[in-house]
Amino acid sequence: MRRLFPVTDQTAEPSAGPTAGPAAVPSAERSVLVDREWSLDELADAYAYPRVGEEAIRGGAAADPHAPGPAAEPGRPRVWLRANMVSSLDGAAQHDGRSQPISSAADMRIFGTLRGLADVIVVGAETVRQEGYRPARAREAFAERRAAAGQTPAPAIAVVSASLDLDFSLPLFTEPKTPTLVLTGAAAPRDRLRAARDAGVETVIAGDGPGIDPARAVAALAERGLVRLLTEGGPRLLGQFIAAGALDELCLTVSPMLTAGDAQRIAGGPSPTAPERFALASVLEEAGFLFTRYRRI
Ligand SMILES: NC(=O)c1ccc[n+]([C@@H]2O[C@H](COP(=O)([O-])OP(=O)(O)OC[C@H]3O[C@@H](n4cnc5c(N)ncnc54)[C@H](OP(=O)(O)O)[C@@H]3O)[C@@H](O)[C@H]2O)c1
Repeated sequence: MRRLFPVTDQTAEPSAGPTAGPAAVPSAERSVLVDREWSLDELADAYAYPRVGEEAIRGGAAADPHAPGPAAEPGRPRVWLRANMVSSLDGAAQHDGRSQPISSAADMRIFGTLRGLADVIVVGAETVRQEGYRPARAREAFAERRAAAGQTPAPAIAVVSASLDLDFSLPLFTEPKTPTLVLTGAAAPRDRLRAARDAGVETVIAGDGPGIDPARAVAALAERGLVRLLTEGGPRLLGQFIAAGALDELCLTVSPMLTAGDAQRIAGGPSPTAPERFALASVLEEAGFLFTRYRRI
C-alpha cells in the first residue's frame, strides 16, 4: 500500500542526483516509499476520527478546526458520520447482490480498521439480510486504542429497518459483544416490535412514521454517547443520509473492475436539491485499488 495523497516529499521517488536515490533517504522515510502492507496501527492512525463529543466543542482547548457541523452547545455531543463503501470503475456497488466480488484483501483491512475505530456501525436491513451480518469482533489490534477512547471492546451494530423483518434469533442479535440496536420508526409493526423486545433487542425510535428520519437517527445515537458513527450502507440508506445532509465523510474504495449490468450505485433514492461538495482528504493505493477519503466542506 502506498500513500498517493496528501502528496509529501515521501510520496514521490527521490529525484536523480549524487545525493538522491533511495540510499540517500533516511531509513525511517524510505519505508514509506515501498509498496508494503500497512499495519493495522498505521491504518488506524491514517483513518482516525476527528475529535468528537465533548472534546470537539468549539473554543475548547482541544478544539478541532475540522470538527463537523455547527458549534455544539456546551454539554451537547458532536457526531461524525463516516460511510465506507466500495464501487467498481463503472459505479457498481455490488456484483451478484454482494460487495465481496469487487473488494480485495486490502479493502477488507481498511473495512476492519474503520470498524475498529467506530462506536457504532449503522447499516440498512437489506445489507444485513443479503450479506449475513454477524456481530462486530473485539480485535486485539484495536483494544488499547478503544479503551483509551472510552469505547466498548467492539463497536455496536445498529440495524435500520421499517418492517423489522429481521431474524432476532441470529447471532447478530444473540451473541454481540456490544448489544445490537435496531433503529426504526414509531409506526413500525407492533408484533415485530414485540418480537424484538422479547428477544432482548433494544429498539430505538427515530421517526414518526414506520421509518427513521436520518438526522434524528444520528441524534438518537449521539444521545447514547455513540458519536463516532460508521455507516456501511447499503445504497438506499446511504442515499438518505446524503439527502439529509448528515454525511460528514465518505471512505470510498474504487475497485479496478468493470461489471456493467444494472447494479446499484453506492447511493440511491431522492437527491438533495444541489449536489453536495466534498474535499479530498487522502488517497491510498494497493494493487490498483484506490482507497479515497472525502470530507464534507
Ligand atoms: N458496495 C458497498 O460498499 C456496499 C455496501 C453495503 C451494501 N452493499 C450492497 O447493497 C445491497 C443492499 O443495499 P440496499 O440499498 O438494497 O439496502 P440497504 O440500504 O442496506 O437496506 C434497505 C433497507 O433498510 C431499511 N431502511 C432504509 N431506509 C430506512 C428508513 N428511512 N427507515 C427505516 N428503515 C429503512 C429498510 O429495511 P426493511 O425492509 O427491513 O424495512 C430497507 O428495506 C446489497 O446487495 C449489498 O451487497 C454494497
